[in-house]
Amino acid sequence: MKDKLQTAQVIISALPYIQKFRDKIFVVKYGGSAQLDENLKSDFIKDIALLQLVGCKVIVVHGGGKKINSYLDKLNIKSEFVDGLRVTDKEAMEVVEMVLSGNINKELTALLNKNGARAIGVSGKDANLLKAKTLNNGKYGFVGEIEYVNTAVLNGLLQNGLIPVVAPIATDDEANSYNINADLCASKIASALKAERVIFLTDTQGILDNDKKLISKLNESQINELKNTGVISGGMMPKVDAALECVKSGVKNAHILDGRLSHSLLLELFTDDGIGTMIRQ
Ligand SMILES: Nc1ncnc2c1ncn2[C@@H]1O[C@H](COP(=O)(O)OP(=O)(O)OP(=O)(O)O)[C@@H](O)[C@H]1O
Ligand SMILES: [Mg+2]
Repeated sequence: MKDKLQTAQVIISALPYIQKFRDKIFVVKYGGSAQLDENLKSDFIKDIALLQLVGCKVIVVHGGGKKINSYLDKLNIKSEFVDGLRVTDKEAMEVVEMVLSGNINKELTALLNKNGARAIGVSGKDANLLKAKTLNNGKYGFVGEIEYVNTAVLNGLLQNGLIPVVAPIATDDEANSYNINADLCASKIASALKAERVIFLTDTQGILDNDKKLISKLNESQINELKNTGVISGGMMPKVDAALECVKSGVKNAHILDGRLSHSLLLELFTDDGIGTMIRQ
């Protein structure tokens, strides 16, 4: 009986959060690095399904860096990272799109639907959801910069009770394909929709300092300092840029969380103690 009471108490403790978050938009970036373990993936899917069932409007944007690497290796196609971004030539672009849009997007969508959520998988090409141009005049090949998010399409899907699962591929007026860093894709979507929160699930505890200790809160000047001193590097660079862009454009908080921790999303949203790094303006 005592155990059952405890269970009831745990459920009831979520009540204020459920009230607060009802009908609010949450953009969750599911990093490629956090997708490797099947049990963790299953917990993540359940967390998203639960968020939807308690009335949150959820958009999932996924990465796929590790899987893309493995397919590029199999096909003997070289690609390198500059400034945390994958330099993407035409050959690599085809693989990037196949893995993100064809493989990962459909897998996540099917798993969500299997677990009681209603999800629809799209890429930025569907209904011209994401329009882009080449980033930095082609410095990174077919890496694009999003210029336009079709919020009407996303809002329409949300209003119809669907979770948009977005593969970070964008297009332009000539129907070209652009590889968009998934963090920056999530931030453009969260900013355009003025989301309540944006959450980046990755494969570290959050942002770590020089001594590899977790930093729980950061603002813009602290981030610039960490970038300038090289403490923030690689894939964490577009992530902090993305998080900052969100909070500057009206998203309440941006969180970088450990996707290797079971149910980190629920712990962050439905308990008082934050677990990763929160970025504020
Ligand atoms: N200061 C830092 N704190 C934490 N991680 C850092 C830091 N600087 C660099 N990193 C690196 O950033 C990585 C996370 O970015 P990465 O792009 O690899 O993953 P992801 O964005 O979750 O996945 P994907 O790019 O496939 O969506 C960490 O694994 C870590 O190696
Ligand atoms: Mg990344």
